[in-house]
Amino acid sequence: MNRPSIKEVAKKAGVSISTVSRVLNNSAPVSEELRKKVEAAVKELGYYPSNIAKSLRKGKTKTIGFILPDITNPFFADIVRGAEDFLRKKGYTLILCNSDQNGEQEIQLLETLISKHIDGLLFTGTGSFNLLLEEKIRKGLKVVFLDRIIQGINSSYVIVDNKKGMELLLDFLIKSGHKSFIFINGNKETFSAKIRYEVFVEKMEKAKLEYKHYFTNFSYEAGYNFAKKIRKLPHAIVCGNDLIAYGVIDAIEEKGYRVPDDVSVTGFDDILFSKHFKPPLTTIRQPKYKMGMKAAELLIKIIEENKFLNRGIILEPELIIRKSTKELKK
Ligand code: RIB
Repeated sequence: MNRPSIKEVAKKAGVSISTVSRVLNNSAPVSEELRKKVEAAVKELGYYPSNIAKSLRKGKTKTIGFILPDITNPFFADIVRGAEDFLRKKGYTLILCNSDQNGEQEIQLLETLISKHIDGLLFTGTGSFNLLLEEKIRKGLKVVFLDRIIQGINSSYVIVDNKKGMELLLDFLIKSGHKSFIFINGNKETFSAKIRYEVFVEKMEKAKLEYKHYFTNFSYEAGYNFAKKIRKLPHAIVCGNDLIAYGVIDAIEEKGYRVPDDVSVTGFDDILFSKHFKPPLTTIRQPKYKMGMKAAELLIKIIEENKFLNRGIILEPELIIRKSTKELKK
């Protein structure tokens, strides 16, 4: 459908283009008669002004890009909601993109967002080093990493204290008598999986406990398929996120075992369904909405002050104890 131009509106109304512009922008007085003619022509032609020219003149489009790795994971929904609520209040529009945990797709999305002249970018990376992103940040693209830092790229970030979250969870499991563990973790290239792995191994070695660790990916299927193959159950199966834990619980119970009677299972994130799961999931709550809001707030500060900031905001995790874990006799 051809979009009517301001020239066609002027012709239809029998006035000059500058009169149409004055009426549309209320930029100078226009007689009631001419105003009515212009408004009638705008309505008849279905004209609406293009923001592109105005934005490019101002050097701002009031749009923010957000690239995240898995749109199907409810963890990110809460984060996006927190970011968008803040951005809307500041008059910005969010353009949301899903990289599907795929490095190539992530680069293509970044190129597309840059071609749309975004004012800034919220970024939860797949974890693969993104040379284009590093170059764009060096050339002035305003970016805040959300939930996942990219090693080797300097930028502001908002994350949860993953180390503290894992320590809270493992201290709870050890104190409640668990002595053997399997950790079914998320994608090994991601910041969050890496740091949780490091804390887990350090804690297991220090407490001289029996443990195994496996990187998979942050999905229900990964948890389900891995748990199906487990021959000997440990006291506890620690999962990289809640989706993995859901898959583990379903697989374990399909094999005729019960959670937590035969094995305790824990998650990470505390997404919406975890308190309703069967059994309700013991997990680490991430302050998802606040993470999104704080990241958007920091990005707008960087944009409006037009300066590079290398500021880190680390938010508090919370241990949420439910019925997927049990006290073991000492
Ligand atoms: O659920 C997705 C996981 O990856 C979360 O734990 C979050 O930290 C992200 O990095």
